[in-house]
Amino acid sequence: MTDDTAGEWRGWRAAAETALYGPGGFYHRPEGPAGHFRTSVHASPLFAEAVARLLGRVDEALGRPAALDFVDMAAGRGELVTGVLAALPADLATRTRAYAVERADRPPGLDHRIEWLTEPPRGITGLLFANEWLDNVPVEIAETDSAGVARRVLVRPDGTERLGDPFSGAEARWLARWWPLPAEEGLRAEVGLPRDEAWAAAVATVERGLAVAVDYAHAVGARPLFGTLTGFRAGRETAPVPDGSCDITAHVALDACALPGGRVLTQRAALRALGIAGARPPLALASTQPAAYVRALASAGEAAELTAPGGLGDFGWLLQPVAVPDAPGTPLEALLVDVPDHEEQ
Ligand SMILES: C[S@@+](CC[C@H](N)C(=O)[O-])C[C@H]1O[C@@H](n2cnc3c(N)ncnc32)[C@H](O)[C@@H]1O
Repeated sequence: MTDDTAGEWRGWRAAAETALYGPGGFYHRPEGPAGHFRTSVHASPLFAEAVARLLGRVDEALGRPAALDFVDMAAGRGELVTGVLAALPADLATRTRAYAVERADRPPGLDHRIEWLTEPPRGITGLLFANEWLDNVPVEIAETDSAGVARRVLVRPDGTERLGDPFSGAEARWLARWWPLPAEEGLRAEVGLPRDEAWAAAVATVERGLAVAVDYAHAVGARPLFGTLTGFRAGRETAPVPDGSCDITAHVALDACALPGGRVLTQRAALRALGIAGARPPLALASTQPAAYVRALASAGEAAELTAPGGLGDFGWLLQPVAVPDAPGTPLEALLVDVPDHEEQ
C-alpha cells in the first residue's frame, strides 16, 4: 500500500481538529461528551453548587452589578450552566445572564434562560468558567529523533505515525520555554501554543470579573517524558486515533496558559475554599435522622471523588482575575491566595 492510498499524513493539530470538530466529528455525535467520559460536572451536583458559590463571590467583588454574566465555556450539553442556575439564590438568579459556548448544537429542552453561542459574548461582567475545554484544543506533538532533535509527529486517520520536519518559529520557542525536551530519542511533548492563544482570546472577552480554566494539568519541570496524548471512547481509555470515533485529549500546561495575575491551584484546594469539604457526617445523625444521614453520606462520597488525590482533586484550576481586586479582605482572596501543599491534604 502506498502513502497515497493509506490516507493523508498531517500534524496532530489538524488531524484532531477534523476528527473532533469536522463534519461528523466526535463532538458532534448525539450522545455528547457524557456518553464517553465523566467530568467533575457529571460526577456530582456539588461541583455546580461550588461554581454557583464562586459566581456569588465574583458578584460581591464586582459590587453586585445589575446584570451578572455566567459563561459556561465549552459547555458540552449545558450541564454545568443548568446546575449553576439551579443552585443560585433567587436574587442572584434574576440578575444572572447565562451563556453556554459550544461548537456542538444546542441540545433540545435546554432551559430557555440559557443563550447558546459558538463564541463567548464580548464585554463579560462576571465569571467565565471552562471545565475540560483546553485539553480538547488540538495541539501538535513533538518527538525527538535519533539525533535528539524535536520533530513534528505526523499521523494518518488510522493512527499510524511518522516524524516530519523539526519545529521552528513560535512553536520551537514555545517548546524551548515551556517543554524543553532532552536530546534523547523517543521523548514526546505537546506544543501548547494554540491553548495559550485560545485562553488569551477567552480572557479578552472578560471586561471585569474572573476567568477559570479547569483541566488535568502539569507544570514546567514536571512534564511527562512521553506526553499525555490519549483517546476515550464509551468510558474507556483507548489509543488516540483521529478518525472521529474517539475523544482525543492531552493534559494542559496551565502554567504556560496563565496570563499576568493568573494562578494555578489544585481542584482540591479550590473546592475546599468554596466549602466542599468531604467530611463524613457524625454517626449520631444516623440514629436521630437516618434519611438525612444517608443523604449526607452520599454527598460526602461525591465531595471525596471531586477532591480525590490521584483523581479529580489533582486537576488544576487556573484563576485569571480581570479588573477585580483580590487583595486580603476581598471576596476573591480566599481563592486567589496560594495554598501550600500540606494544607490541601
Ligand atoms: C471534554 S468536553 C467538556 C464538557 C463540559 N465542559 C464538561 O465539563 O462536562 C469538551 C467540550 O469542549 C467543546 N469545545 C472545544 N473547543 C471549543 C471551542 N473553541 N468553543 C466552544 N466549545 C468548544 C467540545 O465541543 C466539547 O463539548
